[in-house]
Amino acid sequence: MALLPILEFPDPRLRTVAKPVTQFDDTLRQLVRDMLETMYDAPGIGLAATQINVHKRIVVIDVSEEKNQPQVFINPEIDLLDESTCEYDEGCLSVPGFFETVIRPAKIRVKAFNEKGEAFTLEPDGLLATCIQHELDHLNGKLFVDHISLFKRTRIRSKLEKKHKAEK
Ligand code: NI
Repeated sequence: MALLPILEFPDPRLRTVAKPVTQFDDTLRQLVRDMLETMYDAPGIGLAATQINVHKRIVVIDVSEEKNQPQVFINPEIDLLDESTCEYDEGCLSVPGFFETVIRPAKIRVKAFNEKGEAFTLEPDGLLATCIQHELDHLNGKLFVDHISLFKRTRIRSKLEKKHKAEK
């Protein structure tokens, strides 16, 4: 198992659109295990492959209190079920230290594959629905800061750029 380095905003690699997974093999399953380990270690409740500079459509999530319910979404697709919305103060392992309110659709249907290549469908709501949409954004090169004002995004960007300079 391995902990993988996480890209941080405004790294341009976070803007890459990920490609669908076509092979459900041991290499994929090892990557999923490493992503889960990296997510739990951070600690975070979700991680998209984009964030570890692997541009494949893979997401891992665990929104449980005990951190013992890992969920794997490969090639996820989302349908909106109605027009209701909900808001959460979102954070992101790629935007460390910042939280902002984001409004998203509340009720969705997710179709995806697990790491064995088995298709499944879920109709999550609450935090899981928000988390899946946040992670799917990553696979499309989007971050939660794209949902907030330009003013706030610019402020976060300059603070993180300062932090990255100080770390060099
Ligand atoms: Ni994120």
